[in-house]
Amino acid sequence: MSQTSPVSEIAPSVPKLAPGPKGIPFFGSVFSAWRDPLGLMMRSRETYGDVVHFRFGPFDYYLVSDPEVVRHVLVDNAKAYTKSRNYAGLKLVLGEGLLTSEGAPWRRQRKLVQPAFHRAHLAGFAERMSRATRDMLERWRAEDLGTNRSFCVHEEMMRLTFRIVGLTLFSADVDGDARDVGRALDTALRWANDYVESIIPIPPYIPTLANLRFKAAMKTLDGIVYRLIADRRAQAAANEGYGSDLLAMLMEAVDEGGEAADVRAGASGAGERMSDQQLRDEIITMVLAGHETTANLLSWTFSLLARHPDIEQRVRDEAMRVLGDREPALEDIRSLEYTRLVLEEALRLYPPAWIFERQNVEPDVLGGYSLKAGSVVGIAPYVLHRHPAYWESPESFEPERFRADRADKRPRYTYLPFGGGARTCIGNHFAMMEAQIILAMIVRQERLSLEPGRPIELEPLITLRPKQGVRVTRRSVL
Ligand code: HEM
Repeated sequence: MSQTSPVSEIAPSVPKLAPGPKGIPFFGSVFSAWRDPLGLMMRSRETYGDVVHFRFGPFDYYLVSDPEVVRHVLVDNAKAYTKSRNYAGLKLVLGEGLLTSEGAPWRRQRKLVQPAFHRAHLAGFAERMSRATRDMLERWRAEDLGTNRSFCVHEEMMRLTFRIVGLTLFSADVDGDARDVGRALDTALRWANDYVESIIPIPPYIPTLANLRFKAAMKTLDGIVYRLIADRRAQAAANEGYGSDLLAMLMEAVDEGGEAADVRAGASGAGERMSDQQLRDEIITMVLAGHETTANLLSWTFSLLARHPDIEQRVRDEAMRVLGDREPALEDIRSLEYTRLVLEEALRLYPPAWIFERQNVEPDVLGGYSLKAGSVVGIAPYVLHRHPAYWESPESFEPERFRADRADKRPRYTYLPFGGGARTCIGNHFAMMEAQIILAMIVRQERLSLEPGRPIELEPLITLRPKQGVRVTRRSVL
C-alpha cells in the first residue's frame, strides 16, 4: 500500500490504532503543533497516510484526509460527533451562537437564522457591499494610498469587510459601535486562543491580568450589543419596524415549533422569538465569523493575482465586460464567473478556515482504525486541498480546475472551504458574493503589486492569516 493511497481503499479487518508521530514523552506532538501546525499536518499525512494519530499531552487527536472518512464524520455518522473541546475558549466569547452550540438548541437556532441568508435578502446586502467598496476605493485615491509608499491590503480588507458586517448586520458604520465591538472582540478572541492552547488553562474567574482584560473586553462587547438590541426593540415598539438588516431578520424570526420541548433552559419555545441572550450570541458570532475569513480570502487572492498578471487581466476583462462602470448588483454575481473560479482556487490554496474539529461521543472506526470516545478529529481543508491523489499539481494556482466539467469529476469531500454536512457555513453565499463584488470592483480599476523583498508568511491561528500582512503598491488602470 502506498502511504498516500486513500484509506477507504483498505479493507478494515480488525480495527487498530492509526499510525502517527510519537512525539516526546508526556507532551507528544504538542510543541511541534505550536511551532508549525501546517508543516506538522502536511508532513504527517505524507508520512503516515490519510488517518494519522497524534498525542497532544493527554489527548488523542486524529487528522483525517480521506474524503470518505471525512464524509463519515461530517455526515454519515455525524450524530456520534460534537464540536471539539477546543471550541471551549470560543464558547466563552460566543456563548450559544450557531458556531459553538450543539444538539437541539443549535438545530432550533439554525432554522431561525437560515432564512436571513436566503437569496431574496442578498440583494439588499449586495448594494451595501458595493457602496462600502466604492467608498474605500475613493479613499485610496483621495489619500494617494499605495502610489508612493506601499500599504497593507490585508489591513484594508479587514477594515472593509468589517464595515460591511456593520452595515449588513446592524446598519451601523464602523466609526463608533462597530469599531468598539471589533476591538473588544479581538482582545476576547486572543484570550480564547491562549486559553485553548495552554496545557493547564487558568479559569476565567481567577483574576490574572489576562483574565481581567478579557472580562473588561466582554463587558464592552455585551454592553454595546445589548444596547443595539434594546434600541431596536424600542424602534419596533414605536411602530417604526425592525429595519432591513440581519439583526432585524433575527429579531423578527419566529420559531414555528418542532423541538421546542427540548431546547435549553431559558430559551424561547415554539411561536416565540429569540431572547436577548440568543440575539447577543448570534450577533457576536456573525461579527466574528463574518469578516476576518472573507478578508483573509481577499488578501490571499490579491497576493496570488499579483504573481499571475495574466489571470488578473482576465478578472479585469470580465469585470469590464459584465459591469462596465456600474456598481455590481445581485444579478451580476452569476455573470462574474471567472472571478468566482479565481476565488474558489484561492480558497483551495489558502482556506481561511484551515482546520476544523469534532470530538466523538462514542467509540468509532475511521478508515479501519479504532477511535476511543473523546478523541478529537481534525479535518484540515489546507491538507485536503493539497492532497496529490485528488489535485493535479496541487501547489499551482489554476482557477480553471473549478470549471464545472472538471470540478464534477472530483470526490465531494475533497474541497471544504466552508465545511460540510449539517454544520456547513451559513454565510457561504454571503461571503462569495461579497468577495466577488470586492474583487471585481478593485481589479477593474487598480493593479496591486507586491512590495519586493517581503515574503508573505502563513499564520495559522483560528483562521489562516498572512503573518505580516500583504504589502502592495497600487497603480490605476482606468
Ligand atoms: C470566506 C469566508 C468564510 C469561510 C472560509 C467560512 C468557513 C466556515 C467553515 C469551515 C465553517 C464550518 C465550521 C465547522 O464545521 O466546524 C463555518 C461555519 C459558520 N460560518 Fe462561515 N465562513 C466564511 C464566511 C462567513 C460569513 C460571511 C458568515 C456570516 C455572515 C459566516 C458565518 C458562519 C456561521 C454562523 C457558522 C456556523 C454554522 C453552524 O454551525 O450552523 N461565515 N464557516
